[in-house]
Amino acid sequence: MNKLLTLLFALGVACATSTSFAQASAPAAAAKSAASAPAPQAPAGAKSLEAKIAMCIGCHGIKGYQASFPEVHKVPMISGQGAKYIAAALNAYRAGDRKHPTMRGIASSLSDQDITDIANFYASQAVAAPATVKEPTGNVAELVKKGNCAACHGPNLSKPIDPSYPKIAGQYSDYMFVVLKAYKTENNPSVGRSNGVMGAIAKQFSNAELKALASYVGSLDGELTVHPEPKFR
Ligand code: HEC
Ligand code: HEC
Repeated sequence: MNKLLTLLFALGVACATSTSFAQASAPAAAAKSAASAPAPQAPAGAKSLEAKIAMCIGCHGIKGYQASFPEVHKVPMISGQGAKYIAAALNAYRAGDRKHPTMRGIASSLSDQDITDIANFYASQAVAAPATVKEPTGNVAELVKKGNCAACHGPNLSKPIDPSYPKIAGQYSDYMFVVLKAYKTENNPSVGRSNGVMGAIAKQFSNAELKALASYVGSLDGELTVHPEPKFR
């Protein structure tokens, strides 16, 4: 279906162009490379980075922008997040491992190349974070110890041991509380994240404990930020 459309598009362009051989063969070559690519691609001719990001800034480029599903919370900060993690998250929405309906729809419209370009763009906007974080106290100290958060998310919770894991220090607490619950949620068509690692961790905690963890992690200084894109508006 996609191949056919690409081909028809290329043929249309070829016919419309007053025919020198060189002009007619260029779209045909573009059609060939688009047809052999694995994921859905925009028809021949790459979208600009601005065009790719334009779809994101209305939510991720506005400080404190609120989402209302499955409950009111701030849209996560993605500026400064690791490129491999951004790509992994977008792939998880695309594959349905993350069920959030809006982000599934958006991720499904992106090609592999779009995801790579967008991930690199947002990853380049990190701000400096301290090497260590302020130690949790009391009850939260025990929860952090039990969940061993720093073992994967790094000593400052901003230097994950694997680049496909997220930086979490300073991420919005209300967002983290919602997604920590989502890792525990099963058999819901529109809420849930089927990640084995975080699923096993989140299930060890009550919702009240997850809320305490999220508010501690959110209170830290990290590399994540909101980066408005005035020149695109
Ligand atoms: C209508 C608002 C909206 C738009 C537009 C939007 N997002 Fe999102 N995005 C969200 C919300 C809400 C979440 C949290 C979803 C969840 O709970 O998993 C999210 C989650 C994400 C995440 C996962 C963050 C994390 O920490 O795991 C990434 C990455 C992301 N969005 C990238 C993008 C990109 C790239 C675009 C543009 C192509 C985009 N989003 C457009 C609202 C939006
Ligand atoms: C064994 C490694 C590991 C440990 C330990 C761990 N995490 Fe995670 N965490 C991950 C991975 C991997 C992901 C990404 C999962 C995905 O792709 O959805 C993640 C995702 C998250 C997210 C979602 C971030 C976002 O931007 O959406 C939060 C919040 C989180 N972890 C908090 C914690 C807290 C709090 C602890 C300690 C109680 C903890 N994690 C312990 C590996 C770990």
